[in-house]
Amino acid sequence: KIRRTTVPQIRARKGGEPIVSLTSYHAHTAAIVDKYADFILVGDSLGMVMHGMDSTLGVSLDLMIMHGRAVVRGTERALVVVDMPFGTYEESPQIAFRNAARIMQETNCGAVKLEGGARMADTIRFLTERGIPVMAHIGLTPQSTHTMGGFKTQGRDEYSWPLHEADAKAVTEAGAFAIVLEGMVEPLAARITKQIPIPTIGIGASADCDGQILVLEDMLGLNEWTPKFVKVYGTLGPAIEKAVSDYATDVKSRAFPGPEQTYK
Ligand code: KIV
Ligand code: NA
Repeated sequence: KIRRTTVPQIRARKGGEPIVSLTSYHAHTAAIVDKYADFILVGDSLGMVMHGMDSTLGVSLDLMIMHGRAVVRGTERALVVVDMPFGTYEESPQIAFRNAARIMQETNCGAVKLEGGARMADTIRFLTERGIPVMAHIGLTPQSTHTMGGFKTQGRDEYSWPLHEADAKAVTEAGAFAIVLEGMVEPLAARITKQIPIPTIGIGASADCDGQILVLEDMLGLNEWTPKFVKVYGTLGPAIEKAVSDYATDVKSRAFPGPEQTYK
């Protein structure tokens, strides 16, 4: 039986071969990603990517659990990390523990991720001391879109660097096993990566990080628009459209179903 990648194995990759990660929300895509990724994130981006929401704020715990379960079922190698959605962890460490425990118990994933730096340190410590590994997420934190005034690249102003550095240090000292750095200028991501002893996982945060993550649908070319930091490796959007359009043509012309698809 294949053993899944563990949290200590991810942490031990600091400064070594870059950590490979992608998001996935379903059993079928997760099974493909599982062959190549060190960890798979069931991100709350699924609210926007899969469910047409205009931010991640509307994602519920039940929705995360449903997708988390599908991804764990579809995989056997990669560590599966599930996002804690907005409103399920911010108000107290106790409430965060209760909801993180539900995610762990009901999905069988290996860790949770939550957004926030120094302000979440007490919660990260509370969870990790009680057996729930936490991946932190700082820089551009999409659940704070309303206070940030949109999705804004962080660290453009050098005066903000000490704040981000303090966030990274606080979550590290609180026991996080890795940190996602999202939407951050290269020199800041490089400084943080040098300063802390746990791996940084970049998304729009340069090649200086200890690993990289992208939203699978973005890199597969399933979205009409992708941000600058996404490299598009596939053209699934046009491929799906062609298949659907060919099918529609065949149905209308009665070319489908043909003799091969018919029970005589
Ligand atoms: O929800 C998500 O997909 C994420 C990644 C972009 C890091 O949090
Ligand atoms: Na997320």
